[in-house]
Amino acid sequence: MRYTAPILAALAATATATSPMEHAAKLFTLETAPGETVEVTEEEKFRMIDQGRHFFDITEFKNTEISTLRIVDDDSSRPFPKKLHQRCTVEKLHAKIDIDRIRTQLEQFTAFHNRYYQSQHGVDAAEWLYERVRAVIQESGNPLATVRLVRHDAWAQPSIVATIPGSDRGRIVVVGAHLDSIVVGDRGDGRAPGADDDGSGSLMILDALRVLLTDRRIAQGNNLNTIEFHWYGAEEVGLLGSQDIFRLYATQGRQVVAMLNQDMVGYKGRDGVERFGLVTDWTSPSQNEYMKLLIGGYTDIPYEETQCGYACSDHASANRNGYRSSFVFETPFGNHNPLIHTPNDTIDTVDFDHVYQHAKLTTGYLYELAHWPFAEEES
Ligand code: BES
Ligand code: ZN
Repeated sequence: MRYTAPILAALAATATATSPMEHAAKLFTLETAPGETVEVTEEEKFRMIDQGRHFFDITEFKNTEISTLRIVDDDSSRPFPKKLHQRCTVEKLHAKIDIDRIRTQLEQFTAFHNRYYQSQHGVDAAEWLYERVRAVIQESGNPLATVRLVRHDAWAQPSIVATIPGSDRGRIVVVGAHLDSIVVGDRGDGRAPGADDDGSGSLMILDALRVLLTDRRIAQGNNLNTIEFHWYGAEEVGLLGSQDIFRLYATQGRQVVAMLNQDMVGYKGRDGVERFGLVTDWTSPSQNEYMKLLIGGYTDIPYEETQCGYACSDHASANRNGYRSSFVFETPFGNHNPLIHTPNDTIDTVDFDHVYQHAKLTTGYLYELAHWPFAEEES
């Protein structure tokens, strides 16, 4: 394990916890509830993670106005569709989803020892995924699609952003997953396969990109809105990658009109009753209504509304920066995969039929919104 400078500083601080040396260590600012922050050392931060305490790490994002808005206001000037418009094409796209490909790539992704945000393994895994995204774009022959590795100043692991530009350049529709992994009680050298959390979402959205690029209208650049695929680094330590990206977008005045988070898509539920968990906190009510329409029209399973009760994943970073987001989770909160954040979150326990349901939802979401003007429908 290669310790980077901030970790070494934090270790030094722990060793001399009561001495004035402590003040020399980097302090982290954690938002534990809207408007409530605490300052802690890195070791204290990891202890909070071990104890299952939740926070946004806003150390690097303090000039972002702290939002006390837990629900982004519905923007009636940019309404979501009231019905499905692209059913015929979306069903053809569904037939192209390649579960074997997702499985093979997930095997490779989870073979990295871990995908920890400060470890070399975590950097290598992100770079591997970046190469896979590049290959998908290259093999599609699409001259407009691009991908970039997004480096973050304050930690090692990059994020990845792939873009299919739209003809109305301004509006952006985002689907996101997080590429890092973690194991509770560990500081970065343990085995953390993170197959369900969130290797499953990471490789599912990669296949959605591949499938979308096979479409003729997309190939011709004939989509109104820009579609972006995000793979966030450092989610597990306080939503860092997604905060960096959405804060930058907000600063630049970019118009993200909709974001869908796909974190954990490979587990049917402890009770064996398969349904999506539609997360209603830190998300957009109007987009959530639209998600219900998509779930009903494009998948074979129902949904149940649920809440995390805290900013549990990257949709909260979009929301915090003023963007409408939804989180369609593998099952209601509490019924989710009990193996996450352990060395046992392996590919053997991933349910690929369930991954397929999320893939159908994601391709439907992206294809419908790629062509939607975000204006009232004419009847
Ligand atoms: N995939 C989880 C989020 C999650 C876990 C949602 C269980 C619903 C049920 C995510 O990767 C995660 O672990 N999030 C952290 C919070 C984050 C801000 C560090 C968590 O839930 O503890
Ligand atoms: Zn997690």
